[in-house]
Amino acid sequence: MQKEIYLHYQEYKSEDELPDGFRKLVDAAKEATNSSYSPYSKFKVGAALLLDNDEIIAGNNQENAAYPSGLCAERVTVFYANAKYPKNVVLAMAIAAANSQGFLPMPITPCGSCRQVLLETEERYNQDIPVILYGTEKIFVIPNIKALLPFFFDKETL
Ligand code: THU
Repeated sequence: MQKEIYLHYQEYKSEDELPDGFRKLVDAAKEATNSSYSPYSKFKVGAALLLDNDEIIAGNNQENAAYPSGLCAERVTVFYANAKYPKNVVLAMAIAAANSQGFLPMPITPCGSCRQVLLETEERYNQDIPVILYGTEKIFVIPNIKALLPFFFDKETL
């Protein structure tokens, strides 16, 4: 039997079309690219999370001369938020990326490892985390992390 999985998401053409709360989060993710430590790839990624205490936690990618020891912006940010505010629910996340030319026209999406980590946060607080993926030409809003990771590793199988 053939089966299908659908991904429904919103596409916007500019930040101005976003709801206020999402726009603020995108601005925080963009701002966070400025303090990315990425001397090797020169690819600056910023992420921002909104918590249910109204705090915005922002972070960025942190690279290392031992390349695999570095960490993506998404995991830096979500681990920091969960470490500092373990009781606060994550309500939304925004991601922005820039290279030497500036912000990318098309959004980037989180890597597989980040998806798995973000998924656990979504499940931990039993709350969907919409992800706003920023690009200068297109902005995607994905309704939750689970949509980005079909056939994720499920902790229930442990
Ligand atoms: N990177 C992120 O921070 N997030 C992503 O979603 C993709 C890639 C970082 C890792 C590395 O520092 C640089 O971008 C190039 O891969």
